[in-house]
Amino acid sequence: MLRYVTTNPGKVREAERYLRDGSVERLDFDYPEIQAAELGPIAAQGAREAYRHAGEPVLVDDAGLFVEGLDGFPGPYSSYVEETLGVERVHEIAADLDDRRAAFRCVLGYCDGDGFAASPDPVDRGDRDAAAAAGPDGEGERSDGDGGEGADAETLPVKLFEGYVPGRIVAPRGEAGFGYDPIFEHDGETFAEMDTERKNAVSHRGRALEKFAEWFEDR
Ligand code: IMP
Repeated sequence: MLRYVTTNPGKVREAERYLRDGSVERLDFDYPEIQAAELGPIAAQGAREAYRHAGEPVLVDDAGLFVEGLDGFPGPYSSYVEETLGVERVHEIAADLDDRRAAFRCVLGYCDGDGFAASPDPVDRGDRDAAAAAGPDGEGERSDGDGGEGADAETLPVKLFEGYVPGRIVAPRGEAGFGYDPIFEHDGETFAEMDTERKNAVSHRGRALEKFAEWFEDR
């Protein structure tokens, strides 16, 4: 069983459409997120923490909204900004900008404790090489709950899948979805005006899930 590790049921609703019925279940675990300027390392470390917690194959998802006119802000800080300023304030800030173009990005991190024989893009190669060099005997230490400080936590191989969607920031519209969906417009509609199927067809998460599902089929 694959565990989609997130406190956000909206993400799993979107993921279920890409994976065979009953093959994924949400694990409601708030793994510690590192601070980083890129989503990739956050997702990779999150996948390791989640795997150490769950002890079975895990998928984590780190996403963010990148506003062009704000040099990519809030980006990897999207969650903090949503909690503190709120989505409407982000729209208000962007409303004063000449350039309201924005993009959602999503990086999925998969970890099941094993290495990866095949390596379609993009792969956390450094981690995989380090894991191979360390050998298979890290297994017993994974449940020690030391918060990821040990060599084992550093070397667990993680595979990353990325997705991206361009759009622009608009005044809030729509009731569906979650997070920044009401203020993100793509092709004339906000994500909150789309149902899950329509959002998946164009979204950052949908693109990343498509790549993951194709790879996972053979895993
Ligand atoms: P995280 O990936 O759960 O850390 O999410 C980062 C931030 O982006 C949170 O504020 C989420 O609500 C927001 N977010 C992530 N994915 C989406 C999405 O698909 N639509 C709207 N907001 C999102």
